[in-house]
Order: sequence, then structure tokens, then C-alpha cells
Amino acid sequence: MSMLRLRGFEIHKGYLDQARQRALIEDLRPILRSAPLFSPTIPGGGKMSVRMTSAGDFGWFADETGYRYAEDHPKGRGWPAIPEAVLAIWRDLTGLERQPDSCLLNYYGQDAKMGLHQDKDEADFSFPVVSISLGDDGMFRMGEARRGGKTDTIWLNSGDVVVMGGAARLNYHGVDRIRFQSSRLLPKGGRINLTLRVVT
Ligand code: SIN
Ligand code: MN
Repeated sequence: MSMLRLRGFEIHKGYLDQARQRALIEDLRPILRSAPLFSPTIPGGGKMSVRMTSAGDFGWFADETGYRYAEDHPKGRGWPAIPEAVLAIWRDLTGLERQPDSCLLNYYGQDAKMGLHQDKDEADFSFPVVSISLGDDGMFRMGEARRGGKTDTIWLNSGDVVVMGGAARLNYHGVDRIRFQSSRLLPKGGRINLTLRVVT
């Protein structure tokens, strides 16, 4: 395990060993069963290439009218609870008493990517964002807090955890592409990213 800092992003390489990665995947199965993945439509009408769902009191959601947090899955029921093992990662890396109230689960299939964006649908940016990578490698792009600033990339591997806090909390970031089937954690390939946030 090692920690590096790039553009204010704290990158914990190899934070989760293989056993913990596998245990997390088992924790995610019941979430995916009760709150299945969906592809949100975004303002402008396109569909995101990433499929997603959430755990916690709030789930991140998008449709033609904009981006927001929702108390229910689009199929109508509340979101499942955030697994304890996920909360433990938050506590360890942030040292905060306050727990996250949202865990977004992004699934990247072969051709999925996520454009540069800021995480800014939350009420209080003094809380950091913690982002956990599982499965295939993803090329993570990190920028500044302004659109059009310089960017750097790093490959995130299964078990890496990124903390975006302090001055980097509003930095632009995205995922250019994944290396499909570079990991054997998920039998059918793909990348899962868990993003923990304090919403309210
Ligand atoms: C996100 O910013 O929502 C996802 C980042 C990632 O997949 O690593
Ligand atoms: Mn984000």
C-alpha cells in the first residue's frame, strides 16, 4: 500500500487487498439485487454509458431535468443500506465522526466512460468524497477546480481508493476508459466504482 497526492487528490494505491475486494463484491450483490443498475438519461437527452445504483439514504440520480439526489430507486423503493465494510473505509481514511449518507455504485462495461465533471450536488463541500475502485483498471483523469484547467491521468486498479477533499473537493475528474477484463475480480469483467458522500 502507498499513498500519493496528485492535484490534491489523495490516491491510496492497493488500499484493499484481494480478500477485502472479494468480500466487498459479496456485500454488493444484495444491493444490486434489490436496487438494480440503471442508465440515467442526462439533460440533453443522451444516456450515460455508465450504469449505476446507490446505497444509503440518498442515491445520485439524473434525468432530462438535471442532476440531483433521490430518496428512492427509479423503480420506487428506498435504497439499501451502505455495507459496514464500506463505512469502515470512510472512517479509516477520513477520520470523521459523520458517516456518508450516500454510496453511489457505478458500473463500467467495456466501452463505458465518464466525462470530466465536478461533484457538486451536495450541500456541504467541507466533507470529502471517497471513491473505491474494484475490478478492471480505469484511467482516471484529474483536473483543477475550474473547467479547462490542466489535467493528469493515473490508472486506478482494483483496491485503490481516492479521497477528494480540501482544496481538491471541487476538482474536475472523470474516467477516460477502462481496460476491459484486466482484472478477474468480476467474472464477466467491468469496473465498479463506489463513491461515498455526505449529501445533506
Ligand atoms: C465519479 O466521479 O462519479 C466516478 C469516478 C470513478 O469512476 O473513478
Ligand atoms: Mn465524480
